[in-house]
Amino acid sequence: MDYQIVVLSGDGIGPEIMAGGLVALQAIEEVFQHRFQTTDYPFGGAGIDAENDPLSSRTLAACQKADAILLGAIGGPKWSKAVKTPEMGLLQLRKALGLFANIRPIQVPDSIAHLSPLKAEIVSGSDFVVVRELTGGIYFGEPRHWNDKEALDSLVYTREEIRRICVQAFELANKRKKKITSIDKANVLSSSKLWRKVVEEVALDYPEVTLEHLYVDAAAMLLIQKPTSFDVMVTENLFGDILSDEASVITGSLGMLPSASHGVNGPSVYEPIHGSAPDIAGKNCANPMSMILSVAMMLRESFSLEQEAAAIEAASNRVMEAGILTTDLGGTATTTEFTEAVRQEIIKGGRG
Ligand code: NAD
Ligand code: IPM
Ligand code: MN
Repeated sequence: MDYQIVVLSGDGIGPEIMAGGLVALQAIEEVFQHRFQTTDYPFGGAGIDAENDPLSSRTLAACQKADAILLGAIGGPKWSKAVKTPEMGLLQLRKALGLFANIRPIQVPDSIAHLSPLKAEIVSGSDFVVVRELTGGIYFGEPRHWNDKEALDSLVYTREEIRRICVQAFELANKRKKKITSIDKANVLSSSKLWRKVVEEVALDYPEVTLEHLYVDAAAMLLIQKPTSFDVMVTENLFGDILSDEASVITGSLGMLPSASHGVNGPSVYEPIHGSAPDIAGKNCANPMSMILSVAMMLRESFSLEQEAAAIEAASNRVMEAGILTTDLGGTATTTEFTEAVRQEIIKGGRG
C-alpha cells in the first residue's frame, strides 16, 4: 500500500529533526517493504517567507488530502511581529482539521531513568499519557482583544467539546492501566465546573476505569513528586500545554516527547511537543527523538503498522542504552550522528 504523507518541516530545528524522522521512516520502508510518499510544503515562518502566509490555502489543501501529516516545529523571533504569525498558522491548521485530541505519551524505561534531572528512583517506570483538548478553551474563545490599557481572553468550553475529549481519554485508559486523572481548576473556573460534571457523566459508561480529579496546581506538583502514579491525564488546552512541557523533564529532555493530534475523521498530525528552539537551531545538536517517536506514532495510529512502530521505538531505546545521546541529555552525539545510529539499529533489528 502507498501512504501519502505531507511533511511540514517548519522553522528553527524543525528541518533538522524532520530529517531524522524521515531517515527512520526510510529505514522502515527498506526493512518492511512499504512505500511512503512524502511531499514537503512550506508552513510557519517558512510559509511566510515562501508564500506570505504561515498556512497557505495550497498547504492546507494538501494536508486535507493527505493520509497523515508530519510537522517539525514552527516559530521564531524573525516572525513574531508578523500580522499572521507562525503560531496563528498552527492554530488554524488544528482548527481546520478539527484536531481536538492531542495525545502526548511520556515513558521512562529503567535504562534511561538516570538521564532525568529528577532522582532515578522517582522517574523510573513512569508511563503515562497526557490527553490535551486542542481546539477549544482560551486558545480560541471569543471575544478577545488587547490594547495598552486592557486585555481580554475568553475561556469557553461547550459540553460536547468536553465530552468528546473525555471519551478519547477513557477509551485510551481502558486499553491501558484503567486510571484517569482529570485535571481542572473547578475551585475557581466556571469552565472547569462544567468540565468536572461532564467527565463524571462520561465515567458512568466506563465502570472499569477509575476516575480521580486533581486541581491543576496540585497536579503540577504531583507530576514531579510521583510521576509513576499516573496513567491517563485528561485536561483542557492550556493546562495540557503547560503540564506536558513540565512532564518532559521526567524523561530528561523536552526533545524526547512526540505527540499525535486526531480529529473526528480525516488526517492526523504527528509532531514533537516542543517548539523550534531558536537558541540551538542550525547547530546540528537538537535531539531528534521527539520527531522519530512522532513517526512511530504515525505508523501505529494512522496506518496500524504496530510492528513497524515498535521497531523504531526499540531501535531508539537501544541507541540511548548504548550511551549515544545528544547534548540535551549530557551526551556528545550530533543530531545526524544520533539519527544514523537509529537508522543502523532499525536495519539491524530487521522485522523483529
Ligand atoms: P522551545 O520548545 O522551542 O524550546 C524550549 C527549550 O527546549 C530551549 O532551550 C530549546 O533549546 C530546548 N529544546 C526544545 N526542543 C529540543 C530538542 N529537540 N533538542 C534539544 N533541546 C530542545 O520553546 P520556546 O523557546 O519557548 O519557543 C520557541 C518558538 O517555538 C516560539 O516561536 C514558540 O511559539 C514556538 N513553539 C512552537 C511549537 C510547535 O511548533 N508545535 C511548540 C512550542 C513552541
Ligand atoms: C504546542 C505549542 C503551541 C501551543 C503554540 C506554538 C501555539 O506550545 O504545540 O505545545 O500552545 O499549543
Ligand atoms: Mn507547548
